[in-house]
Amino acid sequence: MQVLHQLPVSEHKDLIVGPKSGDDAGVYRLSPDIALVQTVDFITPVVDDPYLYGRIAAANSLSDIYAMGAVPLTAQNIAGFPTGKLEISVLSEILRGGMDKAKEAGVVIVGGHTIDDEELKYGLSVTGTIHPDKVITNRGAIVGDKIVLSKPLGMGIISTAIKANMAKEETIEKAAGVMERLNREVAEAMNEVGVNACTDVTGFGLLGHLYEMAYASELSAVVYADKVDYLNEAIELAAEGMIPAGSHANRNFLVGKVEISPSISRNLEMILYDAQTSGGLLISVAGNKLDELLKALELRTVGNIQVIGEMVRGERGMIEVI
Ligand code: CO
Ligand code: CO
Ligand code: CO
Repeated sequence: MQVLHQLPVSEHKDLIVGPKSGDDAGVYRLSPDIALVQTVDFITPVVDDPYLYGRIAAANSLSDIYAMGAVPLTAQNIAGFPTGKLEISVLSEILRGGMDKAKEAGVVIVGGHTIDDEELKYGLSVTGTIHPDKVITNRGAIVGDKIVLSKPLGMGIISTAIKANMAKEETIEKAAGVMERLNREVAEAMNEVGVNACTDVTGFGLLGHLYEMAYASELSAVVYADKVDYLNEAIELAAEGMIPAGSHANRNFLVGKVEISPSISRNLEMILYDAQTSGGLLISVAGNKLDELLKALELRTVGNIQVIGEMVRGERGMIEVI
C-alpha cells in the first residue's frame, strides 16, 4: 500500500494499525478480544481470460488480510468497466471469478460497486478479524530473523509478455496458477507458530517490500539470490526485454538502498525487482522458530517455500544481495 504522505492521517485509541505505517491493512480494536481488519485493492487485467482475471484479482485483494495474520470474512466487489468497449458478459465473468475465489477462501461477498471507466479494473474491499494481540505488521522484524517467501517470482514479467502476446499458453497457465493461489494456508501456519513481521509481495517487488519491512523494523537485510525461486520462463522473457515499467521504477527507487553482488545476472536482478500481482507472503521469523514454521507449512502442503535471507544489524533499510 502506498501512503499519501501529504494527507492528514487518522488517529484513535482503538486504531492498532493505521495509514501511517504503510501496512497491508488497517486494524481497529472492537473489544479486548477482537479487532477489525480492513483493506481495499484492485488491479488492471494480468491475463486475457476474464474469469481467471477475477479469481486472481480476488486472491490479490484477500492477500493483504492474510499478510496481517488475519481471517477474511466478508468482501465487496469494486470494478471500473469500459461499458462502450466491452461486452457486459465480460464483467459478469470477472465477478463470477471473484465470487468463486471468495467462496474458496470462505469469504462472503456482501455487495459492491461498479463505475464506468476507460480502463478495466477489479478487486475487493475485504473485511476480516484477528485477536488484537496477534496482529502481524511489517515493523516487528528482529536481528537474526530468517526471511521466508511463499511464492515464486516473475509474474510481472510474464504479465507483460501476455500483454505483448509473447507468452506461451503453458507459461500463462503456470503464472495464473501461482497468482490465483490463496495465501490462506501460509497465514494459518504463521498464526500457529508466531512470526515477527509479514507483508505480501506485490507491486514493489521482493526487494521493494523487503526494504519497507527492514526500514520499518530499523534493520538491514541480506538476501541469498540462489535461494530465490522464480518461474524459469520469466528469466527468458526478461532477457527478451519483457520488463514491466513498475519493475524499472522499483529498481530506480531502491538505488543506494540495495547492493547487488556483481556475480548476479542482470535478468535475475530484474526478477528480484519485478512487480508482482498476488505474490507470496514475505515473513520474518525468529531463527529458532524457522523449523516449526516450515513444518507447519509442509503440513498444509504449501509449495515453493523459500528461506531467502536474514535480518541483520546495519543501516536502516539497506539490503545486500549475495
Ligand atoms: Co500488501
Ligand atoms: Co495489496
Ligand atoms: Co502486514
